[in-house]
Order: sequence, then structure tokens, then C-alpha cells
Amino acid sequence: MAESMVGLKRSHRCTEVSEANIGSEVTVMGWVQKSRNKGGIIFVDLRDRSGILQIIFEESDCGTESFQKAEKLRSEFVAAVTGIVEKRSGAANENLKTGTIEVRAKSLRILSESEVPPFPIEENSKTKEELRLKYRFLDLRRPDIQKNLMIRSRVATLTRAFLAEEGFLEIETPTLIKSTPEGARDYLVPSRVHPGSFYALPQSPQLFKQLLMCSGYDRYFQLARCYRDEDLRADRQPEFTQIDMELSFVDVDEVLEVNERLLKKLFHDICGYELQLPIQRMTWREAMERYGSDKPDLRFGMELHNVSDVVKTCEFVVFQNALANGGSVRGINAEGQGAMPRKKIDALVEFAKGFGAKGLAYLAIQPDGSFKSSFAKFMKEEELQALVAAMGGKPGDLLLFAADKDKVVFDVLGNLRLELARQLDLLKKDDFKFLWVTEFPLLEYSEEENRYVAMHHPFTMPMDEDWHLIDTNPGAVRAKAYDIVLNGVEMGGGSVRIHQSDIQSKMFEVLGFTKEKAQEQFGFLLNAFKYGVPPHAGLAYGMDRMVMLMVGADSIRDVIAFPKVKDASCLMTEAPAPVDEKQLEELGIAVCEEK
Ligand code: AMO
Ligand code: AMP
Repeated sequence: MAESMVGLKRSHRCTEVSEANIGSEVTVMGWVQKSRNKGGIIFVDLRDRSGILQIIFEESDCGTESFQKAEKLRSEFVAAVTGIVEKRSGAANENLKTGTIEVRAKSLRILSESEVPPFPIEENSKTKEELRLKYRFLDLRRPDIQKNLMIRSRVATLTRAFLAEEGFLEIETPTLIKSTPEGARDYLVPSRVHPGSFYALPQSPQLFKQLLMCSGYDRYFQLARCYRDEDLRADRQPEFTQIDMELSFVDVDEVLEVNERLLKKLFHDICGYELQLPIQRMTWREAMERYGSDKPDLRFGMELHNVSDVVKTCEFVVFQNALANGGSVRGINAEGQGAMPRKKIDALVEFAKGFGAKGLAYLAIQPDGSFKSSFAKFMKEEELQALVAAMGGKPGDLLLFAADKDKVVFDVLGNLRLELARQLDLLKKDDFKFLWVTEFPLLEYSEEENRYVAMHHPFTMPMDEDWHLIDTNPGAVRAKAYDIVLNGVEMGGGSVRIHQSDIQSKMFEVLGFTKEKAQEQFGFLLNAFKYGVPPHAGLAYGMDRMVMLMVGADSIRDVIAFPKVKDASCLMTEAPAPVDEKQLEELGIAVCEEK
């Protein structure tokens, strides 16, 4: 039977007990990690969120009643032990912080019993994630997840302290808001009071933080919960947390500067990493040209080379067709991989096809300087030599080429570069390579919607020198937008905002909003812009992604207490779930049969 806490007070967490306590009495409480009965003497590893402490029970010390209770202890029972700290009688356990001591129990209370858990509670669990997430409350007991959540808590605390010190105010913004059609899909919440009307859960506090600037709050921040109904990946969740901020009377440099100091502080205090400032900056165009990605991983080289000019006269039709269609031919040099077996190269070709490539041309330079290649036969010797020179190729290297529209070439080679780095084990998790990517395009053309859409969001300021192109060549207008990229992950992003109503109205027009539609959707913002708006700019980090990178987790789920899985469901609570007919009736909602 479960005993109570009456008259009992914990004196230490398990690993707060140390050699300094030898000879004194302590009271510790936690879960039984394991229990070994050696006949007359029982060893119990007691675990709490701090770690493990060995308890030793002998009848002569703890009396018959406690000893008999100790005999019943099983994994995950919750126990309270009072005893005397002593030097460990057996060999020290170097793997434990408390490995040189133990507690000789004087009394024991069993606070709660436990059924046999469906999987062992241990670090580096081999249990399938599905089962762990179904029993997340048990999974959360595992030391590696506990460590992640403790680090997450520290990130929040340090961020709050830093930003408060810098004059930022923490202000909450609503989470039942008006749906806006831009960006990802909204999660909708039906209104009971206004049947047929819906709130949306915010995808970010964007509009509210801009309004706070209009209201004179100057510097705002929030650890904001955001909701996006989009396809999930390893670094995406339908609900996630942003470290969100906005500043008045600033341009790009000041936003980046304060954020560099925040990042330096966080990565120093949490990872012991010395971030050298300023963080490298690269324009979006340069990032695409050199890495085929707007979030390049700078932990390794293998940069893209544009060889369009070098191959323009050759007779290889694949290259010719791409160039004739306005595309390009680009390659990467997988140095030292010239002996890669054909099978592995074929697998790379398939990988490339997964990103829209029609093929992948290769040229393996043999130690004697001869070539093994899928296209060398279509090229003259001097053309091949020029190509190798342009790629910086040496004997023993493997050159891989994609020929297509730029967008496809970048996507294929950008991803191939990462795949090769994974295969060659070039991605060290404790190596942190930060990068600001700047000057993003303001707009991108959506083939799906047949119109331009905002690359960041519709409130992003165009670059002054490009704005005159907005009617003639909208795709060429760059924005005062920036992303902070760490090890190939977009950790955060932001922009300077439009604060002039004429530019904002023009943006809505370019995005295909009629005046009426813009007024209906964003009237409150356009109104606010009539009454004195400070120039303002901001940024938001994905806090989950930041912690994921700090702890070297493979998935964002490992740093979120109760995450959702790929289909946006929660395996533990089984949300989402159907609701009572009565609830639907109150909301004036009828559910149709699935077609
Ligand atoms: P953005 O849409 O780029 O900008 O989001 C900012 C950061 O939030 C993180 N993030 C996510 N993390 C987990 N799961 C998701 N589904 C997810 N989506 C985004 C990313 C991203 O860099 N309001 C603007 C910011 C601003 O302009 O100030 C915004 O939301 O790390
Ligand atoms: P094929 O003549 O179609 O057999 O192609 C010859 C070589 O070119 C093969 O190695 C293909 O994988 C490669 N290839 C085909 N299309 C492309 C492309 N768009 N870009 C790069 N290589 C390609």
C-alpha cells in the first residue's frame, strides 16, 4: 500500500548527496532504477531527475519492517529513504556522479508501487519511438530526455534574463485570432457565440508584435506558442515555440547585433561554445550559388561550381538541352571518392532523382588521370580537361553534375552535398557553424497559385535600391530579410518591416489582394499605419530547433515534452478525436461523411 509524506521531508536530490555528507543523515526520494537482493543485504539504485544514488539495506540498520518493505521494491516503485551517507563499501562506480558513496538506510517508505513498465527506463533507449510516445510519461523519465528538457528550461530562463537586461518587455499576444490567408494553413477554432465564424490559432505573433511597436513598446519579446497546419518533418511540429522579438527605430544591423550577443551568451552558457562575433553573413544569392541552399551547412566544403560556360560547346545533349532551356550545368567535387563503386554512384543518381533530377552525370578521375564517366565519350579531351580544371579535380576525385533549370540544379546538388557529407561522416554535432543569410528575394512565384507570394511574409520591407523594379520585374526585388542558419538548419528568421502604408498597400496589390480584400484581412494593421508608425524590425527563433541543435538531438520531438507525430496526432492522448454530437450542435457544426 502506498504510504504518505506525513512527517517526511526530502533533504537532497539523489546526486546532490556527495562525499561532503559522509556521516550525516539524508532523506532522498525517487524511483527504483533497480534492486538487487544479495540475501541479507539489498542494494537499490534510486533515481530522480538529478541522477542515481545507491542505497543499501541491512536489517540490523533499518529494522525488520523497512527491510521487509525493501524486499518488495521493484523497478519504478516510488520510495523515500532516510539513512546515513557513507563511503561505498564495494568498488566505486565511475559512471555515476555518486559512484563513491552510498546511503545506509535507516527507514524506508514505499510511496507508490508500479506495474512492470512496457519498456525499461534507461538512457539511449532502443525502444521504438511509437511505444515511447504512447507512454510518454514514462519516456520522460529517461535521463537523456530529462537532460534535454532541463536544457530547454535554461534556454528560456537565460533568454528572458538577457532580453530583459537589453530593455525588452515580455508581452503576451492572443492565441485566438483572425485567420489570415498568407503563410501555412491555419488551425481553426469554431466560435459558439458566432456560429459559422472561426478563430485561427496564430502561426506567429507577427501582426500583434508590429502593432505593439505602433503602440510605442519599443522592444518586445515573447516565448510564443505557434501553430501551423503543414506537413511535418524531423524539424517541424504543428505546435512549436518561438523566441519572438521586435524592435523599433532599428535597421538590419542592430537586430543582428543584439541577436549575435544573445546567441553567444546561450551557446556559451549551455554548450560551453565560444562563438566568435560577428557571425558570418552571406547573401541569399551567394548561398544558392555556392551551396545550392538558402540554409547552407558550413561544416564542410564541397561547394557547387557553375560549369555552364565550360561545357557550352560540348556535344553532350543532356548539357546542351539544359542550357538551351535557360538552365545551367553545375557540379560538386567529392574529393577522394573517385574509387566509389558503381552501385554507390547509382544510388546517388537515384537520390538525385528524388529531388527532381533527370539524371546525374559523373566523372571519376582515376589515379593515373584517366576517366570513368557516364558522359566522357561525348566530349573532346580538351573539353574534359577544361571541365576537370574548373572543378578543381585531381586524380582520385569524383565529379558529379546536374543539368537543368537553376531551381532543380540547386535543389539536387544542395541535397546531394548533404547526403555525401552524411555518408562520409563529415557532420560533427558539436561543431557549430553559424551563418546569417541576407537579402532574400521579396517574392517567389507560386506555380500552384499562379501568382507571386511573399517569400518571408507580406510585411517585409523591400530593399530601397530594388523597389523601383516592383512592377517590371517583381522576382528581382530583394528584401531586408535575414535568416540565422546553424549547421544547415534554419534556426530563426526575420526582417525589417514595411512601415509606410503606401508600400504596404502596393505589396498587397502585388500579392493579388484587391483593396477591399486587403482591408478586410489586414484593415487593423493598415489603420494603425495611419497614426504614426516607428520603423521596426524583428526576428523569431524556433526555440525547439535551437535546443535540438544544442543537445545534438536528431529530432525536434526529443526536446518537446509532449510532441506530436507525423500525422499531427498525439499517440498518448489520441488527439485529435471526434467530439460529442452536443458539442458540435452548440457550435452549429455538422460533420460530413468523408468522400
Ligand atoms: P518563420 O516563419 O521563419 O518567421 O518562423 C521563425 C522560426 O520558427 C521556426 N519554425 C518551426 N519550428 C518548428 N516547427 C515548425 N513547424 C516551424 N515553423 C517555423 C523556424 C523558423 O526559422 N513572424 C516571423 C518572424 C519574424 O519575421 O520576426 C516568423 O514566424 O526555426
Ligand atoms: P543518358 O544519355 O540519358 O543515358 O544520360 C547519360 C548520363 O547523363 C547518365 O549518367 C545520366 O544519369 C546523366 N543525366 C541525364 N540527365 C541528366 C541531367 N539533367 N543532369 C545531369 N546528368 C544527367
